[in-house]
Amino acid sequence: MAFEQQKALDDTYIMHTYGRLPVEFVAGSGMTLTDDVGKTYLDFLAGIGVCSLGHAHPAVTRAIASQAEKLTSISNYFYTEHRGEVAALLSKLANNDIEGARALVEALDAGDAAHFTAAATPAPGEQVWKTFFANSGAEANEGSMKLARLYARRQGNGGNTIVCLKGGFHGRTLETIAATMQDWLQESFTPLPGGFVACAPNDIDELTAIFEKYGKEICAFMFEPIQGESGVHPLTAEFARKAEELVHQVGGLTISDEVQAGVFRCGVPFAAQLLGITPDIMSLAKGIAGGMTMGAVVARAEVAGVLHPGDHGSTFGGSALAVAAAEATLAELVRGDFAAHVVEVGAYLADRLAELPQVVDVRGAGLMRGCDLVEEAGDAHDVVARLLEEGVVANATGAHTLRFLPPLICEKEHVDALIEALARVLG
Ligand SMILES: Cc1ncc(COP(=O)(O)O)c(C=O)c1O
Repeated sequence: MAFEQQKALDDTYIMHTYGRLPVEFVAGSGMTLTDDVGKTYLDFLAGIGVCSLGHAHPAVTRAIASQAEKLTSISNYFYTEHRGEVAALLSKLANNDIEGARALVEALDAGDAAHFTAAATPAPGEQVWKTFFANSGAEANEGSMKLARLYARRQGNGGNTIVCLKGGFHGRTLETIAATMQDWLQESFTPLPGGFVACAPNDIDELTAIFEKYGKEICAFMFEPIQGESGVHPLTAEFARKAEELVHQVGGLTISDEVQAGVFRCGVPFAAQLLGITPDIMSLAKGIAGGMTMGAVVARAEVAGVLHPGDHGSTFGGSALAVAAAEATLAELVRGDFAAHVVEVGAYLADRLAELPQVVDVRGAGLMRGCDLVEEAGDAHDVVARLLEEGVVANATGAHTLRFLPPLICEKEHVDALIEALARVLG
């Protein structure tokens, strides 16, 4: 169906929760998207950080197609292939144990289940992480917050307050917008669930005052290692470590919202690893399954152990189709040594952006980058619209801020093409 026809249907029948750009994408391959009239675009957004291996990656496509022929969904009442494999991989990656993950991937590649289960058997003293599969980032965060409150109850602490950061973003459900400390996202939906306190990011004095005031009422500190929706603003390691220390002192937990920054996007398996802290719970989604719908709560086994059957659930979470896609995606990210690749190309992207005279502040890590534009460059949303005309897909998070979340397969030559287009657009 052509763009105008699709737009007419959309105008009539779709709830307008997004301001759409005037293009209908019909296909993709790697870094490239194709619209309904065959024009191609370089994708520096990847479905907002979702298609980590690019579009129609053969390994992911094969995994989805072959799984779809066998079984798509069987509920969580039963065991299903790939679910345990993905969770074991996530456990190694949560420990930043790339070699351990590689051993698992080699066993998968060899089709050797005995080898896989042997490599997945925890070594003495190894931190084990357990996973709950959900379907989105918001749902992962809901699960993480429920787990933190349950942990406090079952430990006898009783705290239920979650400290969150101003400018953060955790999703669109009522509970996750209550945790999202941005007035314009909250004000139309009051009353919101209670039990949240806001702190300015990187303000250790305010954080310390909050812990002095609320003490053991606090059950968790929830944060994005790099705030994505606010325009790619990283936390400092000093602030993150202080928060970890304070929340542990009151018996609470750290929840790292890795929905956008996690799963190799920042050049490490999980972005909290850049801050030198090991969270107790992580929320994942977006890039975890190469474009298939998936969210996940990953928690230290000691924490996850408080969950009993009936405490939490999801009909679709961990469906056979989603875990097949996630296994193929994570295996390729490990096999292809994407941590090193993302660091290299991400640094190149940052350097090339900084060369542009209209760019004032390049932020982020790996292939999660944001930058501000000088006033004279005009509204960043117009810049994004003109980039689209030039055949480049990017994103604006505010009037003066651009964000880039390309597929992790992005190469330096793609960055060069982006910079050329951006230079033309900015004049
Ligand atoms: C950090 C973060 N958390 C949570 C979410 C919500 O994820 P979803 O849209 O999959 O519910 C997002 C989405 O952009 C996000 O960036």
